[in-house]
Amino acid sequence: MGRGLAADLLGWFAQSGRDLPWRRTADPYAIWVSEVMLQQTRVETAVPYYERFMERFPDLRSLAAASQEEVLLLWEGLGYYSRARHLHQAANQVVGRLGGRIPESQDRLQELPGVGRYTAAAIVAIAFRQDTLALDGNLRRVLVRLFDIHLDPRSPDGERELERRAAAILPRGKASEFNQGLMDLGALICTPRRPACSVCPLARHCLARRRGTQELLPVRAPRAPLPERVAVAAVWQENGKVLLRRNPSRGLLAGLWGFPGGLLAEGEDERVGLRRLIEQQLEIQIRVGDPLPRLKHSYSHFRVNLQPYTCQSAGRRLRERAGTRWVELKGLGQLPMGKLDRQLAERLAAG
Ligand code: ADE
Repeated sequence: MGRGLAADLLGWFAQSGRDLPWRRTADPYAIWVSEVMLQQTRVETAVPYYERFMERFPDLRSLAAASQEEVLLLWEGLGYYSRARHLHQAANQVVGRLGGRIPESQDRLQELPGVGRYTAAAIVAIAFRQDTLALDGNLRRVLVRLFDIHLDPRSPDGERELERRAAAILPRGKASEFNQGLMDLGALICTPRRPACSVCPLARHCLARRRGTQELLPVRAPRAPLPERVAVAAVWQENGKVLLRRNPSRGLLAGLWGFPGGLLAEGEDERVGLRRLIEQQLEIQIRVGDPLPRLKHSYSHFRVNLQPYTCQSAGRRLRERAGTRWVELKGLGQLPMGKLDRQLAERLAAG
């Protein structure tokens, strides 16, 4: 019998683990930022964002003191903007109520906005070196293969089984390396398709490999295709400026800027719907002009098919109010926007 599974993993991680910026620090704040970014974002995408974010907000206090708009602007392009809003709120809570000290317990961490079970587990394992499993997507895949578990790793039963099996091999005092080693193994070797078993440091421990089931795992419940929603946007230009609106503080793309408009009701006529939305949002009637090219984007729970229209005033002048702004096309980069609004803004700016 050779070395145990955990020892083989730690040995491989020490040799071949990725050199990532959040691994060069023991600062819990930095590790927290990285884990929030990595919740829904790939490592390669997150790295430059993480570096810019840490340069601008090197500590909790600088983040807490920033405006939400600046935080969102630095986050723009990463998507899932509630992560940025929650991180900013949580920084304010830790500074305001906890004297700037990040809680060291998983339960206390989970009380902070945007810190779920996984993120709290990752922070205590990596920053506070507690013996905790941080079960992310990579770990789920690697572990179901290692133990040849034919349960959906996202189901309650599957998760319980994974936690139980992993707890039995988690090396005391080494949870940071254990978790991050499994993450790297999942990213580099034990990939979703065509895992590179021939070079895997854990091949001899892997039950799925022995049984030839590695490419059948993980089993997953079939996912329903994302529904498509139609959205409309008003492109209203006057004197070289375009009208933008800040989204309300709750809901999709909260706090971001965009073109007035939004999602239509099922089956609603586009022009009628646009007039309805504008009347609700700006208390003004508009003339809906020509359509511009459509834009599409997928969010986590639905796809959006956006139809922009050029619009004109139908008489009464728009009263500028909090949450609306006439912006020069070349100034649009200063405002945080979602993907579709940004694409539309860039098209307009390009003429
Ligand atoms: N994904 C989530 N957390 C990570 C980490 N610390 N390193 C690499 N990938 C990750």
